[in-house]
Amino acid sequence: MDDKVKVSLRIFRFNPETDKKSHFDKFELTVDKNERVLDMLEHIKGYFDGSLSFRRSCAHGVCGSDAMRINGRNYLACKALIKDVGTNITVEPISGLPVIKDLIVDMEPFFEHYRSVLPYFINDDPEPLQERLQSPEQRERFDDTTKCILCACCTTSCPSFWANDKYVGPAAIVAAHRFIYDSRDQAAAERLKILNEQFGVYRCHTIFNCTVACPREIQITEAIGDVKKAIATGKIE
Ligand code: SF4
Ligand code: F3S
Ligand code: FES
Repeated sequence: MDDKVKVSLRIFRFNPETDKKSHFDKFELTVDKNERVLDMLEHIKGYFDGSLSFRRSCAHGVCGSDAMRINGRNYLACKALIKDVGTNITVEPISGLPVIKDLIVDMEPFFEHYRSVLPYFINDDPEPLQERLQSPEQRERFDDTTKCILCACCTTSCPSFWANDKYVGPAAIVAAHRFIYDSRDQAAAERLKILNEQFGVYRCHTIFNCTVACPREIQITEAIGDVKKAIATGKIE
C-alpha cells in the first residue's frame, strides 16, 4: 500500500538579526503519512534551508523540547503524525513567550514561574537511615502530576496566560501539585500561599486548553481544581 502523501508546509520565520517582522516560508514535500512533523522539519533543514531553527533532542516525546503550534494547536513535533494533523500544515512557535528565532522561544519566563512554586522536595526532619515510607495509595495521589516533562504546551495554550503573562500558568501548578500532595513533603502550606496570590490559581478560568494540549495526558484542569480546593478548605485530601 502506498502511504506517500504530498504535504504543503507553512513555517513561521523570524530572524531578529535581519528581519523587521516575521513571515511564513512555504515548502512542499512528499512523505509517508506515518512520518512526524519533526521529520519534515529535519528534512527541510537538512536539504532546503539550513538556517531553519527549532529545538529538539530526544525525538521520542520524552525531553519536551520541541513544543510548537501546529495548525493552531500545541503539540510536540516528534509526536505529531502527518496522518493526524493533515497535509496542509502551518507550524508556528508556541504563543505567549518571546520568539528568539523561527520556532525557538525564550523559555526563561516559563521556568521563572516554575521555580516560583518551589518545585522540589522539602522536608526538614533529620534524614532517616532508610527510605521515607509511603503507602501505594499515598503515592498514587500525585502520580499523574509526576509525568510532566516541562514542554510548556499547556501554559502557552492558556488564554489566561496570553492575557497576562504574570499568571503562574498550568505547568507551574502541576509542578506544585506533585509536591503538595506528596505525603513526605512539608512545604505544602508555603506553596498554597504562593498559589493563592494575585497571579496564582485563581487566574485559571477552567478553559481546559491546557489539558487538551498536554502530550503526557495529565489531567491538568483537575489538578488545578485540587489546588483551588486545598486553598479554599485548608485541607489537602
Ligand atoms: Fe507539558 Fe503537560 Fe507538563 Fe504542561 S503539564 S508542561 S503540557 S507535560
Ligand atoms: Fe488555562 Fe487550563 Fe485554566 S487553559 S484557564 S490553566 S484550565
Ligand atoms: Fe524530545 Fe520531542 S524532541 S519531546
